[in-house]
Amino acid sequence: MTTPDGPETPEGGHALEARAATAQRKAYAPYSKFRVGAAVQMSGQVFEGANVENASYGLTICAERVAVFAAALAGAHRLEAIAVCSDASPPSSPCGACRQVLLEFAPDPAAVTVTAINSLGERRAWTLAELIPDGFSGRELP
Ligand code: THU
Repeated sequence: MTTPDGPETPEGGHALEARAATAQRKAYAPYSKFRVGAAVQMSGQVFEGANVENASYGLTICAERVAVFAAALAGAHRLEAIAVCSDASPPSSPCGACRQVLLEFAPDPAAVTVTAINSLGERRAWTLAELIPDGFSGRELP
């Protein structure tokens, strides 16, 4: 859990969810007021993200991508699990753009658990393969 390239030791699912809930408090969402937190476990380490909005709305970035890019910056490239926390009921799943970014770092999308939670204590979970079946990956490129 502490070394970027250590063995895969998935953090307890609830611990990852707790980190997503913590990250939600860091959201910058003055326009939508829809605050999202994410926590990814990549290469054995956990990284947090939150949505960061912009007055030029299209420049907004989702919590999931902030978390994944923080991991990539730290050299952690193997996605193992992700938890997302919002106030939506039922808990909202990652958007299509984020699913594609998650796929980039998932050697085995069927082995990646995506969990969505909310402040009411509701929970939904999928595998990444369920969320983006037959997705485009670098394997398609020459
Ligand atoms: N948002 C996320 O952070 N993750 C998602 O998967 C869906 C949407 C953010 C973007 C924007 O700041 C707000 O939620 C409303 O779309």
